[in-house]
Amino acid sequence: MPKILVLYYSTYGHVEQMAYAVADGVKAAGVEVEVKRVPELVSEESAQRHHFKTDQKAPIALPSELPEYDGIIVGAPTRFGRLPAQMANFWDQTGGLWAKGGLIGKVGAVFTSTASQHGGQETTLYSLMSNLLHHGLVISGLPYSYQGQLAVDEVTGGAPYGATTIAAGDGSRQPSQNELDGAKFLGSHVAELTKKLTAK
Ligand SMILES: Cc1cc2nc3c(=O)[nH]c(=O)nc-3n(C[C@H](O)[C@H](O)[C@H](O)COP(=O)(O)O)c2cc1C
Repeated sequence: MPKILVLYYSTYGHVEQMAYAVADGVKAAGVEVEVKRVPELVSEESAQRHHFKTDQKAPIALPSELPEYDGIIVGAPTRFGRLPAQMANFWDQTGGLWAKGGLIGKVGAVFTSTASQHGGQETTLYSLMSNLLHHGLVISGLPYSYQGQLAVDEVTGGAPYGATTIAAGDGSRQPSQNELDGAKFLGSHVAELTKKLTAK
């Protein structure tokens, strides 16, 4: 039975919500899934002062655990159009794994959140993908069979490069149903691909 990791970082909870929607999609496809997050790098005092969402139930992932999974779906909010230091810090500890080729051939996919509609969704997705490509994962996007990404009658995330949401400048906007559905679709799609790639 294949196993998929949904690995995320989230400061204010938008990507956290997307992570659980991705996991729901994996489960719906009958594949085992675990949701884990990467460690916070900001001090507890600073996190409280800046109203970080500190009550996130997902356990902290260790880089050494990555080989246990057949698929790895990575999500993080944008920082200036690229991945945050917290997520980069995690992948920066995987050099040994890379040297051994420990993740080659696993299935990967990515998801993100930005404040504004054009604040760097695709560039952030690409910067998340870069880590996975260097590790030799086979990358899946969000296919257009998830038609919700074509919607223009509402403000919405969703891209062929991965699932996305839009948080608004003050973080007040929450992931919409269309965006959560896109995240769920991505999870199911990666699960189906993983089943095929791991079939004996
Ligand atoms: C230092 C910093 C840089 C950011 N850069 C961008 C940016 O380039 N474009 C954008 O749309 N939002 C930017 N944001 C907003 C975050 O992406 C937003 O808070 C995040 O998507 C919310 O997701 P979360 O609740 O999972 O943390 C930035 C936020 C911070 C703190």
